[in-house]
Amino acid sequence: MDQTTKHGILHEHLRRLIERELAPHARLPAERELAEQFGVSRMTVRQALERLERERRVYRVRGAGTFVARPAITKGIELTSFSEDMRGRGLRAGSVLRSAGITAAGAEVGFALGLSPAEEVVHVSRVRTADGVPMCVEDSWLPAAAVPGLLDGALDGSLYETLLVRYRISLRRAEQTIRATVLDRDTAALLEVPAFGPALVVERTAFDQRDRPVERAVSTYRADRYAFELEVTRPG
Ligand code: GLP
Repeated sequence: MDQTTKHGILHEHLRRLIERELAPHARLPAERELAEQFGVSRMTVRQALERLERERRVYRVRGAGTFVARPAITKGIELTSFSEDMRGRGLRAGSVLRSAGITAAGAEVGFALGLSPAEEVVHVSRVRTADGVPMCVEDSWLPAAAVPGLLDGALDGSLYETLLVRYRISLRRAEQTIRATVLDRDTAALLEVPAFGPALVVERTAFDQRDRPVERAVSTYRADRYAFELEVTRPG
């Protein structure tokens, strides 16, 4: 981290302020105020703010000021793919394939997919990226019988698109659990963040148009770049 230059120090101070004290959409002090408070030039303030903007921690509204952005990526409750989520935010989705193969389902994945533990599943493990930045580590298991030849094709694009185009499988709903975790060393290294930081784990079982379970997935998202957004309504 660049804490040696004046704007580096200011950037770090503002980053902490945003993370710890300011609510989303709160306005940051004006450039002039920041310059006075820190005894730096307006140019230095501008450099620090520009950097925060590039990092998507703030957004600027001409004539109104600089405001705290929400976490860079927020995800609604629709059943969408990673590629669709990123596209919706103007980011380029990518995948780095870690491994792909056929294994026995095992008890947990088998239970989720309605298979016996010995039945075969295709297991695909990927690091998902947004504009080249790692966002999550994602493991997907699919019944091998439902996706014959999946491993023969490319696996660097959208899995859900492949399911639709190649297998006419259209995912309609999913059962999902979101929980917190602490990153182990290996996962943190894949996500290029420090070990033992927080992460969000999303466990999904997705069902097709005939309500058959087709995918079990466990995705571990960086908590600093990802949030889930739900609209909640009051019962009755
Ligand atoms: C999300 C889901 C995964 C799913 C993936 C498909 O990340 N949590 O369960 O495998 O989307 O994304 P894509 O179609 O981009 O491969």
